[in-house]
Amino acid sequence: MNFSDLRSILQYVPQFRGCTFVVALDGAVIDSPDFSNILLDLAVLRSLNIKVVLVHGAAAQIAALGKRREIPLSNVDGTGVTDEATLEVSMDAISRLSNGVMQSLTTVKLQAATANAIHAHPAGIIKGIDSQFTGTIERIDFKVLQSFIDQDILPVVPPLGFDADGQTLRVNSDVVATEVATSLKATKLIFISHDDPREISREREHQWSAEEIGQYLKDNPETDSGFASKLSQAADATRNGIPRVHLIGSQVADALLAEIFSNEGVGLMVNSDDYQQLRRATKNDVDELYLLIHRAMEEEKLKARSRTEIMSLIRDFTVLEIDGNIVGSVAVHVYEAENKAELACLYVKKGHNDQGYGRVLVEAACDRAKELDADCLFALSTQAVNYLEKVGFERIDDLSILPEVRRTEWEANRRNAAVLVRPKDSW
Ligand SMILES: CC(C)(COP(=O)(O)OP(=O)(O)OC[C@H]1O[C@@H](n2cnc3c(N)ncnc32)[C@H](O)[C@@H]1OP(=O)(O)O)[C@@H](O)C(=O)NCCC(=O)NCCS
Repeated sequence: MNFSDLRSILQYVPQFRGCTFVVALDGAVIDSPDFSNILLDLAVLRSLNIKVVLVHGAAAQIAALGKRREIPLSNVDGTGVTDEATLEVSMDAISRLSNGVMQSLTTVKLQAATANAIHAHPAGIIKGIDSQFTGTIERIDFKVLQSFIDQDILPVVPPLGFDADGQTLRVNSDVVATEVATSLKATKLIFISHDDPREISREREHQWSAEEIGQYLKDNPETDSGFASKLSQAADATRNGIPRVHLIGSQVADALLAEIFSNEGVGLMVNSDDYQQLRRATKNDVDELYLLIHRAMEEEKLKARSRTEIMSLIRDFTVLEIDGNIVGSVAVHVYEAENKAELACLYVKKGHNDQGYGRVLVEAACDRAKELDADCLFALSTQAVNYLEKVGFERIDDLSILPEVRRTEWEANRRNAAVLVRPKDSW
């Protein structure tokens, strides 16, 4: 790791300090060699003062124990019928697994305790079939979880619920994770499964909205049931107010930290609408903005400007933020005498290119020009002429289109920038 990697990680620390992350691990991950790295990553999160709650599944262990005992199981993941024999096997497998997880957490110096925080009732008869000992979650006893967290104890939540009579019921761990995250108003819910979700959803974008998930599941009824369950829980969680839900594969190197501490991540992210935002820049953005665009200025892709100049023109800038970090900018300068507007400082951070952000910023500049009631929106460019043509600008050779001050500058600075105009009827 180099220092700039470290810096880019540390920028997230103030944002996440004191926040709660719910991490949901599939049983199969706990038995895999990836588990030891995940434990270390959890210890890193705790050391950054992020509160962590661990929810775990147990389908793989239940299936294995059933096989060893030669007991036919009615269902292993808590979604179908749980008959008495299956409940028995499930309880044994889950309690062993929870204990194992707690022991493992102590190896990375994390204090942990299992929390029986799930109040449930029998799921009842579904499509004419009695679900028997499968439970539906009624509520989460978040005070129990909170009191563990307050004592610096990491709560481990197994996929078992209890009804009013003290009867144990098998519940699905994906649903548990969503309910726990919702009850604690978690900042993030992170599902970690054995298979890489990016592989499964191959051709798709890595960021999804709840609506897109609904459409995807409708269009792909044959989707793997484990993946489909996580996707629909992720959609529910964002609707319940969890800002970001992540689905990651345990086999991807450093998956947990890479997903959390980079803008683009390594898994799939389901977000509520405020993940990306375009907003007008403020004085507080000057340093971040200068850092963002100074390299492009050095490379003469953008006109050189000092920090002080950016400060004095800050009201002209619009920034594109992802997860609280500025990744793109555009400015619209107005020349009042001629009532013309200039699109300038169009920039998208490396690593975020080719995702349409540049176009979004150009459209924002058009909106701004319209708002300002300008007669013309022009741009000067040395290295992005083709790009500007792609996003609706037309190159012109007649310099008289420029406001006088810009024409004088153009003649003096010899950058030979091309002049482009975006026709007003396309704003
Ligand atoms: C130009 C810039 C803003 C584009 O941002 P972006 O978010 O990557 O662009 P989009 O996602 O909207 O569009 C991507 C498309 O534009 C193309 N493109 C990107 N930069 C280009 C350039 N300088 N010239 C020609 N085409 C370019 C990409 O190849 C891609 O093409 P495709 O759709 O055929 O695959 C970005 O590359 C940048 O900041 N460049 C450095 C600064 C600069 O030159 N600014 C323009 C000053 S006028």
